[in-house]
Amino acid sequence: MRRPRVLSGVQPTGAIHIGNWIGAIRNWVDLQETHETFFCVVDLHAITVPHNNKQLAEETLSTAAIYMACGISPEQSTIFVQSHVSAHSELCWLLNCLTPLNWMERMIQFKEKSIKQGENVSIGLFDYPVLMAADILLYEADLVPVGEDQKQHLELARDIAQQRINSNYGDKENPILKVPKPLITKQGSRIMSLVDGHSKMSKSDPNENSRISLLDTPELISRKIKRAKTDPILGIELNNPQRPEAGNLLRIYSSLSGLEENIAIQTCADMGWGTFKPLLTETIISSLQPIQEKYFNLMKDKGELIELLRQGQNKAEQVAEKTLKKLKDAIGFLDID
Ligand code: TYM
Repeated sequence: MRRPRVLSGVQPTGAIHIGNWIGAIRNWVDLQETHETFFCVVDLHAITVPHNNKQLAEETLSTAAIYMACGISPEQSTIFVQSHVSAHSELCWLLNCLTPLNWMERMIQFKEKSIKQGENVSIGLFDYPVLMAADILLYEADLVPVGEDQKQHLELARDIAQQRINSNYGDKENPILKVPKPLITKQGSRIMSLVDGHSKMSKSDPNENSRISLLDTPELISRKIKRAKTDPILGIELNNPQRPEAGNLLRIYSSLSGLEENIAIQTCADMGWGTFKPLLTETIISSLQPIQEKYFNLMKDKGELIELLRQGQNKAEQVAEKTLKKLKDAIGFLDID
C-alpha cells in the first residue's frame, strides 16, 4: 500500500510572502513524513496574467529554491516545474471539454482578478481553476494543503473528478480519478494585508508595504511593520471585528512565535502598539533568517538546482502519464501503443 498523496504549488510571480508561507508552504513540511508529496512551481498559472518573459525562468528557479529553503526536501518530495510535465496542459484540455461553463462562471477569484485586469483578461485566467484541477488530479492527490482562498478551486476539482469523470466513465468500485480533499489549517490560512486588514496579503498588490516577502531584509521588515496600519486602542486583540489589523498582526505573531493562540492573546492583551510592533518585527526577522540563509546558499549553485528539478520532472512524469493514460482510455481515444 502506498502512502496517501499530497500535491500543492505556488505561482512564481513576484516575491513569495509570509501569507504563502504560513498559509501553505510551511504546512507542506510535516506532510513529507507521512505522505508521498509532490510540490510544483506552477509557471503555467503564472502566465494567466501579463508576465515578464525576462524574469519567468529566474523566478521559477527561485521559487523552487524557496521551497527547499523552507524545508521541502528533494529526497523526500518530488519538486518540479509544472510546464516541464506536459501532461498538465493535456489533462487541462480534456477537463475543459468535460467541465460545464456555468461551474466556471461562479469562480470568485476569477471575478476579482479579472476586475484588476480591466480589458486585458485572458481565456487562461478564466481557465485557471481547470488547470489547477488537472495539477491535482494527475497525481491522484488525497490531500491538497492550501490557503483559504483556494477552497472554491478545490471544490471544483472534486466536482470535476466525481461528477464529470467518475460517475460518467467509472464505476463505484473502480473510480477513475481520486477525489481530493483540501487541507486548510485553522490558523493562518488567510493572512491579511499590512495596510488594510480587510484585504488578503497578495503578491499582486502594487503596494509593497502591504506584504512581507520571505527574502525581505531585516531593515525592510522593520520599516514595513512600523508602517503597518494600526488603531488608537490599547491592547492587541485577536477576534474583534472592529480591529482587523490588530487581529491580523497578532495572528502572524502567534503563527511565527509558535505560541498557542490563547497564550499569544494573553501575552499581548495589555500591550500598546509601541511594545507589540518591535516584538512582532523581531519574531518575523528571526523566523525568516534561517530560510534566507539556506535560500542564498542554494542559489549559489543553480546547476545543482536545475539537476534536482530534472529529477523531479522525471518522477512527476511517471505518475502523471499513468493517470493521463487511464483517463484517455476512459474517454475512449484510439490507442495505438
Ligand atoms: P498562489 O501562488 O497565489 O498562492 C500559493 C499558496 O499560498 C496561499 N495564500 C495564502 N495563504 C494565507 N494567506 C494569504 N494571504 C495567502 N495568499 C496566498 C494560497 O492559498 C496557496 O495555497 N492556485 C494556487 C496555485 C496552484 C495550486 C495548484 C495549489 C496551482 N495549482 C494545485 C494547489 C494545488 C495559488 O493560489 O497560488
